[in-house]
Amino acid sequence: MKQHIAIYPGTFDPITYGHIDVVERAAELFSRVIVLVARNTSKAPLFTDDERITMIREIFRDRRRITVDGFDGLLVDYARRKKAHVLIRGLRAVSDFEYEFQMALTNRKLAPTIDTVFLVPHEQYTYLNSSIVREVARLGGDVSDFVPPNVRRRLMAKLR
Ligand code: COA
Repeated sequence: MKQHIAIYPGTFDPITYGHIDVVERAAELFSRVIVLVARNTSKAPLFTDDERITMIREIFRDRRRITVDGFDGLLVDYARRKKAHVLIRGLRAVSDFEYEFQMALTNRKLAPTIDTVFLVPHEQYTYLNSSIVREVARLGGDVSDFVPPNVRRRLMAKLR
């Protein structure tokens, strides 16, 4: 395969087992995966950029080929800077498609040499998203099936 670096961008507020499943799949396909905490201008995250980056770094601490970064600009500019030609996105259900399709085509218009690769997470995680995790945690529910222990601890500390 010509391309070796893939960027997996998202808000990750917080990262869940569903996202982790996508990272693991990407790591099987590409020699380097950058998990990128990026800004979605329509979201006001619970965790700061640094907190989200730290949580993800803790999870992939022992994985040399998986790195974590943050960026507050256009995704394609970051990709160009890293000389990456692949963006990874997860597709959980048909409902994800329209938004993902729009983003992929916009990114392609902005940077024709950069492609979006869609990966399908394990069906066990199709219902998951970060908002649901935050809501369950806020209401005192157990989120240990949804997020790793380090994320659960930080969620509890944040919402206490
Ligand atoms: N498992 C669990 N949940 C998942 C998931 C998976 N595999 N894949 C997506 N989700 C959830 C996320 O948790 C998130 O849930 P939430 O809405 O409850 O927070 C939702 O699905 C989608 O969010 P996410 O994957 O984080 O993407 P996003 O839509 O917030 O991120 C960016 C979009 C950050 C990638 C995009 O805004 C971006 O590229 N920003 C940079 C600026 C830019 O270049 N803009 C132009 C883009 S065309």
